[in-house]
Amino acid sequence: MTKTFEIDGKKIPYEEGQTIMQAASAAGVYIAHLCHNPQFTPHGSCKLCTVKVNGRNCSACTFPASEGQNVTNVSKELNEDREKITQMLFVEGNHFCPSCEKTGNCQLQAVAYHLNMTDNHYPHFFENREVDASHPDVMIDHNRCIFCTLCVRASEEVDGKNVFAISGRGIDKRLIVNSKSGLLKDSELDGNDCAAHICPTGAILIKRTGYSVPIGQRIYDHAHIDAVALASEGEVHDL
Ligand code: FES
Repeated sequence: MTKTFEIDGKKIPYEEGQTIMQAASAAGVYIAHLCHNPQFTPHGSCKLCTVKVNGRNCSACTFPASEGQNVTNVSKELNEDREKITQMLFVEGNHFCPSCEKTGNCQLQAVAYHLNMTDNHYPHFFENREVDASHPDVMIDHNRCIFCTLCVRASEEVDGKNVFAISGRGIDKRLIVNSKSGLLKDSELDGNDCAAHICPTGAILIKRTGYSVPIGQRIYDHAHIDAVALASEGEVHDL
């Protein structure tokens, strides 16, 4: 017999070992997320996917589905928490969407729209973060890094290289590059690596491609993030 649990009153079938996120996505239910990508081991770091499981907060991307669970995904409280998390991401980095070449293809921006976020609410840190444009084909703009670790996981799990890692904690957290100089040009990264194409924001960009798709014709210019996420479940996001 098919095992099921409920999300917002809807019966969701699942297989043993699936997370709530995996079962929900397979059933066409979108749970907001940023650090989740079905291709990689769940990391559970952004907390955007927080749902209530039998009344307790859990990360849907890491919490296993089980028989009879009662999951709340959409509620005023949960969406307000998601909006606060997203606002904090915006003020912690330096995200200037109108001048970012990832605009319209950026998952952080699209999630903000999804949550009806209309301002950043919190004071900006305006932290001085560097840009590493040393590599011939790829650049890192640390201003836009949200520490989702997708590049870290892609480099390790797909490229087999360990080019990226996260160093430090809290306000001192940084995306670092595995090279003596700390620069991308001295790392093993190749422009064709999965890690170079997986960033959900404009933190890791392929050079000389920025405006090949004009603004107005980009993914989220035409589709809502829930539809894009559900349609691309199981594929590599290369926006
Ligand atoms: S998507 Fe689950 S914690 Fe980030």
